[in-house]
Amino acid sequence: MGVQVAFRLNLVHGRCVGVRLPAEVDEKILSGLLPEERGFVASLAPARHPSWVAGRLALREAFRDLGIEPGPVLATRRGAPALPSGLAGSISHKRTLAVGLAGRPENGASIGVDLETCPPVFASLEEARAQARPDLRTLVLTQDELARLQSVPEKDHRRIVTLHFSLKEALYKAIDPLVGRHVGFHEASLTTLSDGSAQIALALSKNDGSFSAAGFWTEVEDHFLTTARVQRT
Ligand SMILES: CC(C)(COP(=O)(O)OP(=O)(O)OC[C@H]1O[C@@H](n2cnc3c(N)ncnc32)[C@H](O)[C@@H]1OP(=O)(O)O)[C@@H](O)C(=O)NCCC(=O)NCCS
Repeated sequence: MGVQVAFRLNLVHGRCVGVRLPAEVDEKILSGLLPEERGFVASLAPARHPSWVAGRLALREAFRDLGIEPGPVLATRRGAPALPSGLAGSISHKRTLAVGLAGRPENGASIGVDLETCPPVFASLEEARAQARPDLRTLVLTQDELARLQSVPEKDHRRIVTLHFSLKEALYKAIDPLVGRHVGFHEASLTTLSDGSAQIALALSKNDGSFSAAGFWTEVEDHFLTTARVQRT
C-alpha cells in the first residue's frame, strides 16, 4: 500500500484502519490510489497531499477488510468522502496518523470518525493550571454539558472538553451528509460514559427532520479516536 498500517480495529460503528502519515507522497504511495483519485490529488495544494492520500488509503483498507471494493473515493461538494450508495465511510487525520472508518450500515445510516491528540493526564490541579491553554469549553459545550463537567475533577477538564470536541467532529461528519448544512457545536449535547459509549441528544436548530445518534470513543496511540452513527427516524 506504500504507507504503514498502524492499527486495524472493529469498532461499534464500523471497521477502522489507521495508517501513518507519510512525510511526502512519492510514486510508490500514489500507486495505491486509483487513477481518478490520482487526478484529484493533483488538483490539491501540495501540503494537503500526505493527509488526503493517507486518509483514502486508510478508508480503502477498512473497506477491503470488510470484503468491499468501493472504487475511487473522491469528495462530495461539501467535502465528505463520496461513496457508492449503500456504503458509508469517514476520514480523519492528525499530524502523524490518518484513519478511515468503513461500513455498510442499514436504514441509510451515516457514520463519522475523528482523531484528536489526547491532552496529558495531569497529576494535580496545580500542574493542570500551569499548562492551561486557551479553553474551548464554551465554544464546544452546551449548558447541560458544562453542568455535567462540574462533577469532574478540574485537572481532568481539558481531557473531557477535548473528548467532547472530537465526538462532535465525528458527529458532524456523520450528520452533515444527511442535512447538508453546517451543524453547530451547541446543536448536540453529549453524555460520555466510561464504557466508551456516548449518548447524544440532538437539538437541531433547523427543520431537518428527526434523527437518532450515538457516539463511541476509545484511545489509540495518545489520540482520542471517536465515532458517531446517525440515522433518520
Ligand atoms: C469538517 C470538519 C468536521 C473536519 O474536521 P477536522 O478536525 O478539521 O479535520 P479531520 O482531519 O478530522 O477531518 C477531515 C476530513 O473530514 C471529511 N469531511 C470534510 N467535510 C466533511 C463534511 N461536510 N461531511 C463529512 N465529512 C467531511 C473529509 O474526509 C476530510 O478529509 P479529506 O479532505 O482528506 O477527505 C471541521 O473542519 C468542521 O467544519 N467542524 C465544525 C463543525 C462541527 O464540528 N460541529 C459540531 C456539530 S455537533
